[in-house]
Amino acid sequence: MSFPLSRGRRLRKSESIRRMVAETKVTADDLIAPLFVMEGKNKKEQIPSLPGYHCFTPDLLVKEANFFYRNGIKCILLFAKIPGNKKDNAGKEAVNPKGLMQTTVKAIKNAVPELCVMTDVALDPYSEFGHDGIVKGKEIDNDSTIKVLAEMSVSHAQAGADFVAPSDMMDGRVLKIREALEQSNFHHTGIMSYSAKYASGFYGPFRDALDSAPAFGDKKTYQMDFANAREAIREAQADVEEGADIVMVKPALPYLDVIAKVKEAVNVPVAAYSVSGEYAMVKAAAKNGWMDEDKAIIEILTGIKRAGADLIATYFAYDFLRLKK
Ligand code: PBG
Repeated sequence: MSFPLSRGRRLRKSESIRRMVAETKVTADDLIAPLFVMEGKNKKEQIPSLPGYHCFTPDLLVKEANFFYRNGIKCILLFAKIPGNKKDNAGKEAVNPKGLMQTTVKAIKNAVPELCVMTDVALDPYSEFGHDGIVKGKEIDNDSTIKVLAEMSVSHAQAGADFVAPSDMMDGRVLKIREALEQSNFHHTGIMSYSAKYASGFYGPFRDALDSAPAFGDKKTYQMDFANAREAIREAQADVEEGADIVMVKPALPYLDVIAKVKEAVNVPVAAYSVSGEYAMVKAAAKNGWMDEDKAIIEILTGIKRAGADLIATYFAYDFLRLKK
């Protein structure tokens, strides 16, 4: 049909009509709120490069978790900030059943049992080298690392985690984790795998938050090259075969094509992680008066969902709730 039988503007005429024909709507059900926990009591620290975002001690973090649940965001993704004196090259603290992550998960599940709690599984916050695996010479050793990640995952499941979320990009870790969970009778603990996680310049604020920047080199021998999209499909398919329940693409905004391709290729839910740098960019521009952040936030989240993401992990979780009021 061509003009004037068809006029695209008829369906854009009013807010009511635009809403009727909107193909994509982001709701609180789509969102996962990342949260950072640190040791101590009754304290919160502003993360300088993530304006409006804080690291909380467990008692206060439980309140944040509850806030999200009460307001309709039913899932959090938990990261632990580990003090320097507990970092090593073995992940000892990562597998400690009484560690910060494990005790915090227990406290959250006690207070808000219905909240879906996902835990980060990777060694970088626990590593004296800031790498996601065990360092041997100048290499990140794959096969010794995935054993520790499996043990770490079981300790999170024991604490009550609903999902473990391996963010390390070691080969074969999903299978190793799935086998370990099955052996320990955690048949219903989910795995949300960071399947296509890119070596990205957008992780800076996160590494500030956890004090986890790599002490040498970079993460390019394990995280993916941003030039590649077909490789993301291979990674996602491998993770599904190894037992992942949800696959994730990360970052989100510069990888919308990857989200769309992965969505076509697999039949499990696809998550996207809109990372710290994506959030910081918007906040910095807004602070300068260069952009209307409220408009940008909804547009970004809608774009990520439109690309194919079923779930979006995002630091905009607070803003989203504010805007939806
Ligand atoms: C590391 C990890 C990173 C993020 C989540 N898990 C950073 C990295 O790979 O160095 C980044 C998240 C963000 O930037 O918001 N396992």
